Amino acid sequence: MKKDNILASQGEIDESRQGEVFAKGAQNNTKTKKYYIESYGCAMNFNDSEIIASLLGEEGYEYSTNMEDADLLFINTCSIREKAEHNVRQRLRHFAKAKMKNRDVKIGVLGCMAERLKTKFLDEEKLVDMVVGPDAYRDLPNLIRSKKGEKNVSVKLSRIETYDDIKPMRIGSNEISAFISIMRGCDNMCSFCVVPFTRGRERSRNAFSIVAEATDLVQRGYKEVTLLGQNVDSYRWENPETNKTLQFHELIEMVALVHPDLRVRFSTSHPKDITDDLLHIIAKYENVCNYIHLPVQSGNSRVLKLMNRTYDREWYENRVNAIYKIIPDCAISSDFITGFCTETEEEHQDSLSIIEFAKYTMSYMFFYSERPGTLAAKKYEDDIPLATKKRRLSDIIRVQSQVSFASNKRDIGKTFKVLIDGVSKKSDDYLKGRNSQNKVIVFKRDDKVKTGDYVYVKVNDTTSATLKGELI
Ligand code: SAH
Ligand code: SF4
Ligand code: F3S
Repeated sequence: MKKDNILASQGEIDESRQGEVFAKGAQNNTKTKKYYIESYGCAMNFNDSEIIASLLGEEGYEYSTNMEDADLLFINTCSIREKAEHNVRQRLRHFAKAKMKNRDVKIGVLGCMAERLKTKFLDEEKLVDMVVGPDAYRDLPNLIRSKKGEKNVSVKLSRIETYDDIKPMRIGSNEISAFISIMRGCDNMCSFCVVPFTRGRERSRNAFSIVAEATDLVQRGYKEVTLLGQNVDSYRWENPETNKTLQFHELIEMVALVHPDLRVRFSTSHPKDITDDLLHIIAKYENVCNYIHLPVQSGNSRVLKLMNRTYDREWYENRVNAIYKIIPDCAISSDFITGFCTETEEEHQDSLSIIEFAKYTMSYMFFYSERPGTLAAKKYEDDIPLATKKRRLSDIIRVQSQVSFASNKRDIGKTFKVLIDGVSKKSDDYLKGRNSQNKVIVFKRDDKVKTGDYVYVKVNDTTSATLKGELI
């Protein structure tokens, strides 16, 4: 298992990208006003930073990758675990240093931590000028115009905001692959989770604006879109003209039909809601990737009940069986939480066995971190010692690593269609890309092919994280 993935968050933004400063900053050094932004957390948070970039662009602000020459410093934050919040606090120390050098600079805390802590943030972090929650980014143009020294908090959650009229400015993009948020918020109330409190009620975006965004991306040369939501299977949008309600599988079909060379991915699926209709659409369209991120959290039914996941192990196993029946070469990945309140050793073993059962190609794995205000924090004692939580986490990582390796070994000798997304991290002599199953494949560089091309690669070797192959 790739180490990077272990502590990553929802939506496949891995640890190595946390705190990412998008690559394409302003190059010139004119007098234009500039902003700097760092992003943490899940893919949706990264996509929100692109929406924020678009709003700031309209105000005449230019994006800068250099904190020192920016007039506005933003940090788009995550609250999912204590460690995520700790990282943000550490980064704010650096922001504060920049402000000590230039008192005119304004610091804005955005995202989930802003929503969770609200005015408390201003009390705790004296150099912060504005605190803006995920549904309040349209206020940013006003807030950045406020007088020096003025403090502002804008954290109202909305039941309708989807930013569907804002074209995200792809400041962080490789120009191959883009995120499209199709819904916001979450109504699920898993007992461990802070997201319903930081992102509010679930709402779905206009399907036609999603299709228009995908079409525009294709015209600009993009080859892959990932549709984002906390629970994409509960996407529901009522077309006001026909009064017909569109469901997720219908939306996926609409996006798949935008262009046959546009790969369509989505995240995150919820085991209680994923339908056979969706599985049939995945099987029907070659460009809808054969990959489903289906977080189980625990393999034990009693723990799942305490987590308020609303499915049990049997239900989950049935969904996995349905996936492999309808899409035989589908890859499934998962999320796990170890050491949830009252979890016994025996129950922990059930999490290990479900990895083997579901044959996950990879998982994001975490130990339980109590979040203030959640149902679990109110109802259950966080009673598993940290050392036990961590030991169970390393058990899970070990088993997942073995299962990933076995899955990769089964790929040796197979040929995959790969979308090239860049140069291998380890060597400039190699290119890398992903197959439909979302597995990374590296192969020797060839001047006839480049980033953004589809190529066929035959796998001839593997580690537990990466397939190696040759162009055919
Ligand atoms: N909407 C997605 C998950 C979003 S949060 C879903 O329902 O699957 C991403 C992952 O973070 C979760 O799947 C869970 O594994 C982990 N997570 C969430 N809250 C956590 C907590 N309090 N402690 C540890 N991990 C947590
Ligand atoms: Fe959190 Fe559960 Fe919603 Fe996922 S489905 S965001 S884990 S409350
Ligand atoms: Fe995402 Fe973190 Fe918020 S995972 S939804 S940024 S709490």
